[in-house]
Amino acid sequence: MKERIEAVKSNIAGIKISSSAELESYRIEFLGSKGKMKELFGELKNVPNEEKKEIGQLLNDLRQFAQSKYDEVKEQLESSDASIEKLDLSRPEEYIALGARHPLSLVRSEIIEIFSRIGYNVSEGPEIEDDWHNFSALNFPPEHPARDMQDTFFIQKGNNPKEEFALRTHTSSVQVRVMENQKPPIRTISPGRVYRNEAISARAHCFFHQVEGLYIDKDVSFADLKQTLLYFAKEMFGEKAKIRLRPSYFPFTEPSAEVDVSCTICNSKGCNVCKYTGWLEILGCGMVDPNVLEASGIDSKAYSGFAFGMGVERITQLKYRVNDLRLYSENDVRFLGQFKSAF
Ligand code: DAH
Repeated sequence: MKERIEAVKSNIAGIKISSSAELESYRIEFLGSKGKMKELFGELKNVPNEEKKEIGQLLNDLRQFAQSKYDEVKEQLESSDASIEKLDLSRPEEYIALGARHPLSLVRSEIIEIFSRIGYNVSEGPEIEDDWHNFSALNFPPEHPARDMQDTFFIQKGNNPKEEFALRTHTSSVQVRVMENQKPPIRTISPGRVYRNEAISARAHCFFHQVEGLYIDKDVSFADLKQTLLYFAKEMFGEKAKIRLRPSYFPFTEPSAEVDVSCTICNSKGCNVCKYTGWLEILGCGMVDPNVLEASGIDSKAYSGFAFGMGVERITQLKYRVNDLRLYSENDVRFLGQFKSAF
C-alpha cells in the first residue's frame, strides 16, 4: 500500500498541466468520485488494523497534496487568462480629445499677465449692478442717453420701481467699487462681461467683454497713461505696434481720449478690417474726473489717476482675425478647436 501511495504521489508531482481542459482531467483522474483518491481510500478497510493509522495519515497527506496542486494550477490559469484579456496588443490606442481654451479667455489671461508685470492686480464686481455704481458715481448726468432703455437692460426687483437694477453696461462700475473699498495707491484691472441692448450682428452683440484699468496715486499724469498704454500695445501686438490718441468724451474722465492701435492685419497699409485707415480703435481712457474720485471718497486734491476700458472681442479680432462677434458665443467646435495650440 505504501508503495502505491508513493507511486501516485510521484505521478501527481510529474504531471504538467497547462490548460483548463488538462486541469479538469487531472481533477477527474485523482480527485473525482471515481478517481485515484477514492479508490485508495476504499482500500483502507483491507489494511491490517495496526497499520490503519499510519496508512490513513499517508492517504490524507496525499489527498492534501493532490488538492493543493489542483488549487495552485487553477489560480495560475485564471490570473493568466485575465491578463491576456487586458493585454490586447492589437487594440487601437484610445483617442483622447483635447479641449481648447476659448479665444476670449486666452486674450483675457494675456491682458491680465501684461498688466500684472507692471504691478496691477485683478478686481471683480457684480454683473447685476445698481444705478449708483454703473452711472451716478461715474458722473453720468440723470438725462444721459446711456441710461436709456435702448442701451441698458434694466431689472426691477419686486414691484418697487425705485429698486431698479441694471446689467452693467461697462466694467467702469468696478472702478467705483474698488475706490470705495481701497485707499490709494490703487493699480488694478477689472476684466468682465458687460451687457447692452443691441441687435445682434457680426459687429454688435448684446453681451461682450471689457477690461477696465484704474491707477490712482499722487501726481499721476496723462503722460503716465500714454506710456502705460503704449507698453500694453507693444506687449500685446508686438514691438512695432504704435498707438494714437484722439480727444473724446466720457462723463467719468477729463480729459478723455480714444486710443487706436496700428492695424496688425495689414501693417497699417490699409485693409477692410481697419477700413483702409491703418488704425483700429481698441479702448477709451482719460484722467479720472475729480467728481468721480470724490463720489467714492477719495480726496481729489491729494490724488489723481487715470482709467481705461478696452474691448476684449476687439483685441481678439486683431490677434486671431475673428471678424464675426457671433462666433464667440455659438460654441461651434470647428471654431473653438482652432485655438488648441494657442496656449
Ligand atoms: N466705459 C467705457 C465704455 O464702455 C470705456 C471707458 C472709457 C472706460 C474711458 C474708462 C475710461 O475707464 O476712462 O465705452
